[in-house]
Amino acid sequence: MEKKKIILDYDPGIDDALALMLALSSPELHICGITTVCGNVPAELGADNVLRVLQFMNRPDIPVYCGAEKPLVRRYISAQDTHGEDGLGESGIPPAEGVSWHSGAVDFILDTLCQTEALTIVALGPLTNLALALRKKQNAFQNLGRLVSMGGNFRSYGNCSPVAEYNYWCDPDAAGEVFANLGKPIHMVGLDVTRKIVLTPNILEYMHVLNPHTADFIRKITRFYCDFHWKQEKMIGCVINDPLAVAYTVDPDICHGFDAYTAVETGGLCMGQSVVDSMNFWHRDPNSHVLTQTDPLAFMTMFVSRVFRKESASVRTVLAKIMAGGAVS
Ligand code: BDR
Ligand code: CA
Repeated sequence: MEKKKIILDYDPGIDDALALMLALSSPELHICGITTVCGNVPAELGADNVLRVLQFMNRPDIPVYCGAEKPLVRRYISAQDTHGEDGLGESGIPPAEGVSWHSGAVDFILDTLCQTEALTIVALGPLTNLALALRKKQNAFQNLGRLVSMGGNFRSYGNCSPVAEYNYWCDPDAAGEVFANLGKPIHMVGLDVTRKIVLTPNILEYMHVLNPHTADFIRKITRFYCDFHWKQEKMIGCVINDPLAVAYTVDPDICHGFDAYTAVETGGLCMGQSVVDSMNFWHRDPNSHVLTQTDPLAFMTMFVSRVFRKESASVRTVLAKIMAGGAVS
């Protein structure tokens, strides 16, 4: 099987950590490298966190590059209220030993684009590194296979303002530039689909039955995130946005949507809003593929069976009962 070559560009982050676990457990993917950007946490702390997760997953071989420490224009506002001061839910996951990250995320992205046919970039944080890379060498992106971006929203409400999703809100200028200048449709895995992906206490219990060691890691990092969801929206469990973008990279059938022109509002009341021209008012060629539908059971089956290395059909049977709210016998 020919593997899809990817760069993960992101800001770990609790759901980002889960996204990396899924990517590392997916034989269809070859991770060329991981780049970090300021978002949930500062980029350097994000890079430390990538190394922590790689250590847990026993994959210290994957190179990690640290990128932009501030948005293009706006003041940087992290999401440490959501992800904890350490970005991993104040879980005390030990620092990685014997490995370190490099600086130069933007150059790593450009070099990898130049050397790789049809590279997929999976962006799970603000788009600052990609905007800087585009500014520096736009023609390197001719080699890009696909950009999958967890960010934005179409019909769904925002998660850090009434209308804006965090990744685009954190650096709206970068998001705007990438949508305007990439030259290829961005696959926008936004809140319309990711909101449907909820990690519940019952699913965590099931994970514990499958493998206590891996489940404890996930429990530790998600506890803080679950508490935040309860305080914020009275939800039991937590929405795990980023792994859905990885699942979509592995299997594009897991989400469906439509093509449209999208712009990002860079200031004012609606700052960070992804404005999707679904009715074609602007008569512009589509620059985005906006995902609006997903199958949460298919996603959860992919996540659990892969990360816990269990046979998919039996995992699906159990998850179907759990997700329907029934008892498992
Ligand atoms: C996005 O913002 C971050 O908090 C998450 O990691 C995800 O990438 C959701 O809006
Ligand atoms: Ca993220």
